[in-house]
Amino acid sequence: MAKTLLVTGGAGFIGANFVRFALANRPDLRIINFDVLTYSGNLENLAGLESDDRYRFVKGDILDPEALDPLMEEADGVIHMAAESHVDRSIMDSGPFITTNVQGTQVVLDAARRAKGGKGVGRFLYVSTDEVYGSLPLENPEVRFTETSQIKPSSPYAASKTAGDLLSLAYFHTFGMDVVVTRCSNNFGPYQFPEKVIPLFVTNLLQGKKVPLYGDGKNVRDWLHVDDHCEAILAAFDRGQAGRVYNIGGDNERSNLDLTHSILSIMGHGEEMIEFVQDRPGHDRRYAIDASRIEQELGWKPTRSAWPEALVETIAWYRDNQDWWKRVKSGEYLAYYEKQYGASA
Ligand code: NAD
Ligand code: TYD
Repeated sequence: MAKTLLVTGGAGFIGANFVRFALANRPDLRIINFDVLTYSGNLENLAGLESDDRYRFVKGDILDPEALDPLMEEADGVIHMAAESHVDRSIMDSGPFITTNVQGTQVVLDAARRAKGGKGVGRFLYVSTDEVYGSLPLENPEVRFTETSQIKPSSPYAASKTAGDLLSLAYFHTFGMDVVVTRCSNNFGPYQFPEKVIPLFVTNLLQGKKVPLYGDGKNVRDWLHVDDHCEAILAAFDRGQAGRVYNIGGDNERSNLDLTHSILSIMGHGEEMIEFVQDRPGHDRRYAIDASRIEQELGWKPTRSAWPEALVETIAWYRDNQDWWKRVKSGEYLAYYEKQYGASA
């Protein structure tokens, strides 16, 4: 029998890719996409799915229990990924991060718990982030985050995600809810809002603008293609152990300088297009994921994140889909970047 997944935040970058991936690869799944459509939620990301009878979009806010309750009755499980997602925005104003990522998660958890006469909705997967672990030093490249690493978030975004992550685990311990948490590294791929570094740099270059590199550019991120993340979420949802955390990563660490040089070279630009700008306050130095638990227990491995091929393919998507990002970029996005970084953004 088909299972119905309630996906929160399915109109954002990972959400839209997840909905597309699940519908394409899992004929046994139906999806209800529940999204309030903030600045980063965009129904264009889901164009073409409107006529799929295994898919339904419901506009609503995760802070609204009355909107969630009837959907929980229909669903066999929840993938909760609605969030405020951008670190720089959390530095400018952390309020929406606390409301959405902390309080919103509590509302979704309670709705999931009271569903079906208190039996609960079924499995609840919280899409968390490697940023809950804070920052690693550059000096010890062999050290990576494991699921038992210290939880030490640095940014308001990361702290708010940590609250949602730990609250989900608390609902497992306290109420016996069937909760699984995934903590993933930086994603890249189509439909990413062009405030995140890869689509920002690529679309700037396509517009003949420079790319604003923070600080000395030596900060390191572990890059994973979004479809590998989607596959890992499904693996954890299907086969993960209740109450357990699964790290997800690409084993693909790159400094921002390396990443920028790769983008410049793929797009045929030189170093002169780099503009070093003021560093992000509290900028985490390095993220690195040890994903051996999900690999060994659930048999998942990244297969779409090979570098530089996957980056080349992603850049080609932004080159071929200029109408999409031009519409996105002409919104309030511009005012935000101009306020923070001046004219070059
Ligand atoms: P995104 O900003 O592109 O999408 C977030 C979505 O959530 C949007 O569609 C937005 O409209 C929706 N949303 C926000 N507030 C809502 C509310 N109150 N009610 C209903 N919907 C709401 O973010 P993303 O990059 O796709 O990230 C998705 C999730 O994955 C987040 O939870 C994020 O923390 C996590 N994550 C992201 C990455 C990454 O590299 N992007 C890595 C690890 C984990
Ligand atoms: P980002 O895409 O914001 O993801 P996160 O902060 O969640 O890792 O940033 C990725 C890296 O790129 C991070 O080290 C900050 C850096 N960065 C820049 O150098 N310039 C930029 O304009 C942005 C947005 C990010």
